[in-house]
Amino acid sequence: MNTVQTMRAISQDVLGGPEVLKVVEVERPAPRPNEVLVRVRAAGVNPTDWKHRATGGFLGKPPFVLGWDVSGVVEATGIGVALFKPGDEVFGMLPYPFGHGSHAQYVTAPARALTHKPAIDHTQAGALPLVSLTAWQALVETADLQPGQRVLIHAAAGGVGHVAVQIAKARGAYVIGTASAGKHDFLRGLGADELIDYRETDFAEAVRDVDVVLDTIGGDYVQRSLRTLRRGGILVTILPRGSKELPLEAEKLGVRATEMLVDADHYGMKAIAELVEAGKLHAAIAGTFPLTEAAKAHELGETGRTTGKLVLIVD
Ligand SMILES: NC(=O)c1ccc[n+]([C@@H]2O[C@H](COP(=O)([O-])OP(=O)(O)OC[C@H]3O[C@@H](n4cnc5c(N)ncnc54)[C@H](OP(=O)(O)O)[C@@H]3O)[C@@H](O)[C@H]2O)c1
Repeated sequence: MNTVQTMRAISQDVLGGPEVLKVVEVERPAPRPNEVLVRVRAAGVNPTDWKHRATGGFLGKPPFVLGWDVSGVVEATGIGVALFKPGDEVFGMLPYPFGHGSHAQYVTAPARALTHKPAIDHTQAGALPLVSLTAWQALVETADLQPGQRVLIHAAAGGVGHVAVQIAKARGAYVIGTASAGKHDFLRGLGADELIDYRETDFAEAVRDVDVVLDTIGGDYVQRSLRTLRRGGILVTILPRGSKELPLEAEKLGVRATEMLVDADHYGMKAIAELVEAGKLHAAIAGTFPLTEAAKAHELGETGRTTGKLVLIVD
């Protein structure tokens, strides 16, 4: 007789604050063709998790299980999966936005959203995927950042920012970051060349002639950042609003601007794994929480002041 296998997951029935998150026991998913079932060991918590928890965002009405970052062990493979076998340690980002569900003991993922985990612990590997893919796709694939170019990275000490600093340095760029003064030593340690305490100094006055801006703040930072670009330079904002005006506005100033949403990608994950293996990329861990305390991680993340990444540890 087949007994239904269950798992613990963090779910919610209503939108709201961290208190709406609850531990539920649900049926363990089964991998479909080209998918793997992953036994989750660690999963990062990102701003998109608490934004979706509070607003529903792209997902609409709950119930849903959040979480896009995953590091774990392949438990089973669906028909046709040649990349992995049960027992393989993998990490990656589930398809954004509709592949969510890693804040659970098990999750299914398209095999090609993942890659083999380098020899780092699951906490590191669970922290890196979403923020690293975002920074990689913005700086390398969209902006084509070149050695010697000047890049301005906003919220450089945040989840995305601190890996963007490392990826930009690995590309041989000159890195200018915005962060409050107490975080400057941390960022110098990651290789940042120039730091601006945004609380004391207006970056839009202090920075000129950059080739690339990575905007992680949105709002008026977008327009103000356009003025820091050299002619022909490019701004990539990761707070997309579907603006038709932004590229036109940029064109008038002789620069380029584009919005970007991170996208799951096997080759992007391989590039990230290579940087990790070369010792050029790691995550600073702002805090770890057991899966059952996901609400606490949301609460801390939502302060907007964390340095590096928050991670759920799943046993
Ligand atoms: N489009 C996409 O695909 C995509 C992907 C990833 C993230 N995002 C979005 O990008 C944003 C950043 O994500 P994240 O994971 O990096 O967030 P995060 O880790 O929560 O960012 C926290 C950091 O932001 C810094 N910060 C806040 N306001 C700042 C300001 N005005 N200037 C400079 N630094 C500031 C804080 O430093 P201080 O304490 O010094 O202020 C803190 O270190 C979020 O809104 C997220 O939703 C979008």
